[in-house]
Parts: sequence; C-alpha cells; structure tokens
Amino acid sequence: MQMKANQIAEDQRLEIRNYLDLDHREEMMRLVGEGLSAEPKWLHCKYLYDQRGSELFDEICQTREYYPTRTEMAIVERYAREIMDFFALGGGDLVEMGSGSNQKVRQLLDALPSRSLERLRYVPFDISESALVDAARELLDIYPRLNVMGIVGDYTRHLAALPSGRKLLVFFGSTLGNFNEQEGLELLKGVASAMNPHDRFLLGLDMVKPVEVLEAAYNDSQGVTESFLKNILAHLNRELGADFPLEHFQHKAFFNAQRECMEMHLQARQELTCRIDDLGLETRFTPGETIHVEIARKFTPDGAKQMLRQAGLAPTRWFSDEQGWFSLVELARVG
Ligand code: TRP
Repeated sequence: MQMKANQIAEDQRLEIRNYLDLDHREEMMRLVGEGLSAEPKWLHCKYLYDQRGSELFDEICQTREYYPTRTEMAIVERYAREIMDFFALGGGDLVEMGSGSNQKVRQLLDALPSRSLERLRYVPFDISESALVDAARELLDIYPRLNVMGIVGDYTRHLAALPSGRKLLVFFGSTLGNFNEQEGLELLKGVASAMNPHDRFLLGLDMVKPVEVLEAAYNDSQGVTESFLKNILAHLNRELGADFPLEHFQHKAFFNAQRECMEMHLQARQELTCRIDDLGLETRFTPGETIHVEIARKFTPDGAKQMLRQAGLAPTRWFSDEQGWFSLVELARVG
C-alpha cells in the first residue's frame, strides 16, 4: 500500500512532453540516406544516443582516460552553491539540455536547502525517452519535493518547447563541441532567443590541451568508445532494417589540429556492401573507407568568447579547473 501511495505521488510530480513525432523518423531516414550516399560518408551523431548508446556513454565517462566528465564534475562540485544562487533570488525552472545521467544535476540540487526545491522545477531535455524517464524517476525518489517536466525532443529542432518563464539552463559535457561552427552558433542563438533578460545559461566547454591527453580520451584502453561508436550502426540496423556487420568496422579517433577538433570515424576493415531496407538503399565500402560520425571541438578562451559574442551571449562568470582544461561559462543574453 505504502509503495502504491508513493507511486501516485511520484507520478503527480512528473510530466513528460514528447516532441519526437513521425517527423523524427522522416528526418532520420533523410539524414541517414544523405550521409551514406555522400562522399566521404557521414552519419549524424545524434543517432549515437539510443538507450544502449546513453548507457555506453555513461561508461565512457567512467574510463580512466576520459577526463572531461571528471574535470567538469569537480568544477560543478566546487561552485554548485554559486551556480544555484539563481534560485535564492526566486523560483523557476532548471533546464538541462542533453540530460543523460543525474550526476551533475544532483550536485546542483544538493546545494540548495530542501525547502527551496519546492520553488524549482527540473526540466530535462533529451532525445532518448527511456533514458530521460528512468533518470527522472530516480530524481523524484531522491527529492520528494521536486517536480519534473521532461521534454523528449531534439534541441536542434524543438527549442520552442523550452519553458518561457524564469530559468537557469545548463548544457554540460561540452556537447556544443559536437556541432560544427555554424550549427553550434545557430543552437546558441536559439537558446539566447529563448532567454529572458535575467535568465542564465551555464555552458560546458572543453578546452584545447596537449594532444596526447585529447587522443587518449577518445581511444580508451577498454574499448568502450569503440562500442559506443559502433552502436550507431546497431541503432540503424534496428530502426531502419539495415544489416551493418559491426565486427567489420573499427573506430578511429584523432585530433585535427587545424580545425581544433577531435574527429571520430568508423572504418570498414574490408570491402562491404550493406543494405538499409527501409531506405531501399545499398551502400558500398572500399577497404579502409570511413564514415565520419562525430567531431568534438576544443575551445580556446578567445575563440569561445568570440563565438559567444556572435551568438548574443555575454559571460557573467567563468568557472574553470586549475589546469584550465574545462570551462563552465555562465551567460546572459545581450540586450
Ligand atoms: N560530448 C562527448 C564529447 O565530445 C561525446 C563523446 C565522448 C563521443 N566520447 C565520444 C562521441 C566518442 C563519439 C565518440 O566528448
């Protein structure tokens, strides 16, 4: 009985809005078709994050080599109170873009006295519904006064879903670096235009650092990153009736110094022909041919400032670790 009462109370504190409609599948079909017919081939990185992909990414974050999570987490721990000052001044929404696991948001919530939690609504925004719902339920269990409104969507297309009231937005993990310059700028501009003058936006940026450190982070010795990257093929096999043989691909990740970004590719070990049934498409690979799956841009302080200015955002505070490996920049919209 007790369990059941809790269950109901929990459901009343949870609302989910799903923006991934038919449209999403159409877009997936279009982007996958375009990418695999292009020369060189590419796949959009958002398809890395199905349920399994979200789990594997969490595993990457725990590898010895993948420093960004640990570094960013230490900054969040150290400055959680200052960051959460925002809710000392009034209630509002804490919006997390690309929410994933609850590690960082828990640090933030723990920095508030529990009665302040009543004035706050947590709004995770993620493309994976199951990952979002699981994480939301865990939070509701831990924080009995918290309300959650989950937005299942693609923040490159559904920014209009952001709540219009007073809010602190957080975008951890240097995910912005996974977009190219133009897409990244568009995303930042979109966020800026969804902000009220007193709203704040906390943006995680991974900084340029010695190339050995960068390359190790994307080539972990346990091969988790490799499984993560290959999972995009498993996702397409399942969603689009494709027949990519995962064992015939390997992952390649290296730093492109000129573009200041890590590049992640899947490379065919041998000649292959793969079918994507739902697209009526056949795609051929020569031995060694690659599919470009993701970039991870690394920023310099000056480069970051310039990008932010162009997006109409101004730093209000800049949090970093001692080595300057990672930045959490608190931003306000300009004007
Ligand atoms: N946002 C993460 C990053 O840029 C994503 C990521 C980590 C990733 N490791 C990866 C993406 C390996 C593709 C392959 O660091």
